[in-house]
Amino acid sequence: MAEDLRPAALPTLRLLTCGSVDDGKSTLIGRLLFEQQLIFDDQLSALKRDSKKHGTTGEDIDFALLVDGLEAEREQGITIDVAYRYFATPARSFVVADTPGHEQYTRNMATGASNADLAVILVDARKGLLTQTFRHSYIVSLLGIRHVVLAINKIDLVDFDESTFRAIAASFMEFAKPLGFRSIAPIPISARFGDNVSARSERTPWFEGPHLLHHLERIQVDEDRRLAPFRFPVQWVNRPHLDFRGFAGTIASGQVKAGDDIVVASSGRLSKVTRVISADGDAEEAGAGEAVTLAIADEIDIARGDVLTHPDNRPEVADQFAAHVIWMSEEPLLPGRSYLMKIGAKTTPAAVTELRHRIDVNTLDKLAGKTLSLNEVGFCNLATTMPIAFDPYADNRETGAFILIDRSTNETAAAGMIAHGLRRATNVHRQDLSVSREARARLKHQRPAVLWFTGLSGAGKSVIANLVEAQLHARGAHTLMLDGDNVRHGLNKDLGFTAVDRVENIRRVGEVARLMTDAGLIVLCSFISPFRAERALVRDLAAPSEFLEIFVDAPLATVIARDPKGLYKRALAGEIKNFTGVDQPYESPENADIVLKSALETPDALASQVIGELEARGFITRL
Ligand code: ADX
Repeated sequence: MAEDLRPAALPTLRLLTCGSVDDGKSTLIGRLLFEQQLIFDDQLSALKRDSKKHGTTGEDIDFALLVDGLEAEREQGITIDVAYRYFATPARSFVVADTPGHEQYTRNMATGASNADLAVILVDARKGLLTQTFRHSYIVSLLGIRHVVLAINKIDLVDFDESTFRAIAASFMEFAKPLGFRSIAPIPISARFGDNVSARSERTPWFEGPHLLHHLERIQVDEDRRLAPFRFPVQWVNRPHLDFRGFAGTIASGQVKAGDDIVVASSGRLSKVTRVISADGDAEEAGAGEAVTLAIADEIDIARGDVLTHPDNRPEVADQFAAHVIWMSEEPLLPGRSYLMKIGAKTTPAAVTELRHRIDVNTLDKLAGKTLSLNEVGFCNLATTMPIAFDPYADNRETGAFILIDRSTNETAAAGMIAHGLRRATNVHRQDLSVSREARARLKHQRPAVLWFTGLSGAGKSVIANLVEAQLHARGAHTLMLDGDNVRHGLNKDLGFTAVDRVENIRRVGEVARLMTDAGLIVLCSFISPFRAERALVRDLAAPSEFLEIFVDAPLATVIARDPKGLYKRALAGEIKNFTGVDQPYESPENADIVLKSALETPDALASQVIGELEARGFITRL
């Protein structure tokens, strides 16, 4: 029997290309597609026409125009610019993630790289390694890509010079040592003329390696996800009738078969898989990437977001961990702010508790910092409200990756890669107390509440809150006043007025207010609290229906005219920085429980308005 010389069918190769248009990235992708005859005829004639008109290649076809045309379209207002292109050769199929290469596009790279197996990093042979080469390589390694092709392009423009190629390749090898790549293949190419792209070039006889396509066809990248431990994030619980309950989701890694012992990672509850059901019906077994429904033997508590695994190889479960974070939002990271974390099928509130360092992606230096801006990378500690099940990203790219979502805009704020857990979620329990908060409140004959006064400096928050407290006190209510100016002399004297410090100011006050309502008190809080996100946070900290947001609404012109402390004058003169309403925003409440128009009414009238609302809502009884 004739030997089958074809290579064993290799899995699809997902590759990411990094480099700028100037490096010839688009030309390279265009040529790869062209040489696999993936460009339609009408596209080709349009391309020939455009090449004559706009191209930079004389009579030749400018392949870059093909790809760049798509890129220009994509750049019109779409936030994440990643295009996927598919092509296949007899040996293998490919998915190319193409991302624009401009300086600031770390974000896009991260999006395209998140599931790539290999990165093609382009450099211009005339220029050698540039800052962006270092940045691309670092992000590629951070995202867990272990195989790299260093495509040294425009080799024709250095006369196919061997020593130029060798020098660039050698310095890349040196630079990349700490990045932990498993394979690095430097290849001299000319994307424009096709040298070493999908055929060996006669013009680089000194080059002993394979041409690009050959390398891509042959490379073994996996890291087979089927061989990793079994991880199954439950996407939804399927209960069509009483006799059947199944758990649907996509297997993140590993394999499962009927009869397997199974454990719910977060609760430790054990059971057995009774059926594995795929789109085609019952299956013997299923593996990574497949969407299945699992039925199990026991009625145990399993909800969306839980992770099912085998008992002998469990993920970590924690509510605090360290992670690398790539910041993707125009709004900078504010440690302490509550974001939504999405990991697998689970969503939970989460905050960066500490930014341990920023990373200069060009030099890999660790830098001190309080915040991360768009495209910056940092190493952070995070805390989640609910414990999560995860693996370190280095072990499992599916269960070690998460995103942070801005709670007010719903935009993706960051991509994260978990390094390790910081404390087992099970170590710190809340202490059960024998006197309940209800019992404490009952003794005081009152319903605890947080009355949160927010508004510009000088709007009248503290004046009104004082009057309200005096009236409550006169009625025999047990109250406490927390006021921005006062708290900043004690508990929060380490905090200033940067956005980062304001977030922490409000977070601490929210925690204190919660403790005080646990004590049964009516707590009046008077803080500018300019950001919606932190006002939402303090609402979340309070017990449900115990929180009232009171917006003391006065136009900026009014408070500037009032200027009780002379601060606006100084802020407008530039003597005080970060002043709310002047050079820092105030985000007005959209759904305040009570709105007080402080430019129109007297403080006494507004205080009575609040008392009236408290009576109407049953916090205090009518006199
Ligand atoms: S908050 O934004 O963090 O809620 P907070 O209410 O605690 O502010 O403190 C505001 C008070 O600090 C103001 O009433 C004002 O007296 C004083 N202050 C000093 N500098 C600033 C500033 N840059 N911006 C706002 N208030 C300031």
